Formats: sequence, C-alpha cells, structure tokens
Amino acid sequence: MATILQANEDAIAEAAAVIRDGGLVAFPTETVYGLGANALDAEAVARIFAAKGRPAGNPLIVHVGRPEDLPTLAEDFDKAKPLIDRFWPGPLTVVLKKKPIVPDIVTAGGPTVAVRMPAHPVALALIREAGVPIAAPSANRSEGISPTQAGHVAEDLGDEVDMILDGGHSEVGLESTVIDLTQEPARVLRPGMVLAREIEAVLGAPLTRPTGAPVGEVLRSPGQMRRHYAPRTRLQIMTNPAEDMMTIKDHPIGMVAFGSLAGVPLGVDIATTMVMPAEPAAYAARLYDALHVLDEADLALIVVEDVPEGEEWAAIRDRLSRAASSPA
Ligand code: TXA
Ligand code: MG
Repeated sequence: MATILQANEDAIAEAAAVIRDGGLVAFPTETVYGLGANALDAEAVARIFAAKGRPAGNPLIVHVGRPEDLPTLAEDFDKAKPLIDRFWPGPLTVVLKKKPIVPDIVTAGGPTVAVRMPAHPVALALIREAGVPIAAPSANRSEGISPTQAGHVAEDLGDEVDMILDGGHSEVGLESTVIDLTQEPARVLRPGMVLAREIEAVLGAPLTRPTGAPVGEVLRSPGQMRRHYAPRTRLQIMTNPAEDMMTIKDHPIGMVAFGSLAGVPLGVDIATTMVMPAEPAAYAARLYDALHVLDEADLALIVVEDVPEGEEWAAIRDRLSRAASSPA
C-alpha cells in the first residue's frame, strides 16, 4: 500500500524524484486527483494504463507547469494563446497537433495531444520540481468515480501507485473542460466548469458542443465513452423524486437531492441522503464525494434528483448521465 504524504516541500521533492525515475505519483489538482508519470517516458506512461486498467485507445492529458511549455509539446500555440491567457492555470484542457517529442502511448497513437496547466499549487510545484511534463488521467480505476480526496485514491489504487500526495480536497470537483482546437469550428469534447460560452466569448466564434454521446455513435475519443464516472451501485436520475420513488422496489435506497425530502411518500425508506447545494460550482465540488460515500454504503440503488437546465449545469448533467448508464 502506497503511503499518503502530506504535500509539503520535502514530500514534493521526493515525489518529483519518483516521477523522474519512471514511477507513478498520485497528486492533487483543482479538478480531481491525477495519476501522474513522466509524459516523455513511454515506459512510465505504460504503467499508468496498467494501474488504471485503461484501454490503450484512450489518450492522456499532459500537465505543464508553465504556459511556455505548451509549444514544446504541440504545434499551433497561437490558436490556444487567447484561451491560455484567460483560463490558465485552470480547468481547461486544449487539444492541438502533437510534436514528435510526445510518445505515441500518451496520445493513443493519434496525431493530437491534450495539454493543461493545473491551478493547484502542489501540482504546479511537483511538475516544476520534476522538470518534465506529467501525463495524468484521473487517479481512479477505468470507468470509476474520479477521486477528489487523497483517501479516495488510496482506496481505489493504493496498491498500484508509488506515492500519494495529499493536498486536501479538490476545489472544482469535476474534470477539466476538454476543447479540440484542431477542428474548425473548435469542439468541446468534454464539458467542464469552464463553460462553452466563456470559451466562445474569448475566441469570438461559436463552438461545436457535445451531442451527449448517444449509443452507437462512433466516438472521437474513447474518453467520451457513455459509461464513465460511474459508481458500482446502480444509479437512476429522477425528475420528480417524490412521485417517481413510488415505483421503486429496490431497498435500501440512497439519494442525492437538493432540498427537503418532505415530498417523499411515507413508507419509502431512504437509507442515506446527500443534500446538495443549489449553486452549480458548489454542487460540482461535492458531487463525487457524495457518490463515493453512497457507493460505499451497500445500497441497491442511488437516486439522483435531476439538475436544472442551463449551461452552468452542463458538466454536472454530463457526468450524471454517464454515471446512470447501465454497464455495457
Ligand atoms: O481535470 C482533468 O482533466 C483531470 C486532472 C487530473 O487533470 N484529468 C482527467 O484525465 O480527467 P482523464 O484521463 O480522466 O480524462 C482525459 C480526457 C479523456 O476524455 C480523453 O479521452 C481526453 O481527455 N483526451 C486526452 N487526450 C486527447 C486527445 N489527444 N484528443 C482528444 N481527447 C483527448
Ligand atoms: Mg478519468
């Protein structure tokens, strides 16, 4: 079992040495915890895929410590510059044509590379101290719920990583927005808490938005797989929990809901309820925590109250609908 180290200066220096030696370090970012390896070392990156049970066809995000590091990895820096000026460091990943220095395993053999500069001070210190860009998917087993705390990583991947850096709770709580700048118009591949309309305002041009990845569609990247970010427990979204609960025979039930459960009929036994904030950023920050807790509670079913319409909720709606997809 990997040790969890409080992310102070010594621990970060030790973790940077592990990265330089080709090892795996789980580290905090402002979105979710990442499972990091030296992005320029194909063997180290192969360990990430093995640890997660990740299909080789699903490319990784490369994390940089400075905007100036982007042009060492990718072409067409100018296309990304306005977005980087506005949103880096932060939860926005840009996809550009890759340079040969990026090993094929990182990009799943594809011609493009995804790059992000995270806003978490521990992530930035680790990347800078390691002196190499760090490839890092979310630090969870493939298809599972992303970790927002060091403890989540320890439970899920504790035996697979060399070290876990604890930098507290991930503030954003959902994975970064991924935008493909190699297409015209640019395309949102994964919605996040940097909104499509904010990106459009910076680019001064409309984006192609995700279609919700309907079943059977040939997907541009396997990360867009329909079932993703899912708890092991079955999860169902309900527009009107008070009424819809009447039809449920499963027991016990866990619930993720906005407010009072006064409307839930008598006789419906809800084992655990996670009361969620009405504001999207606060909801996002808490969602994966809630799903981790409920997934550990031996429930037959998790019921999630549907979230409002509107783009501020797009990333949350995306993760919930993927979590609700039944296993293929
Ligand atoms: O917030 C985040 O992005 C977190 C933290 C650790 O930075 N990372 C993360 O990584 O969520 P991961 O591997 O769980 O998700 C990466 C997503 C996947 O949907 C993957 O398919 C997509 O980015 N992706 C990576 N490289 C790509 C590329 N070259 N073209 C298209 N999509 C790419
Ligand atoms: Mg992931």
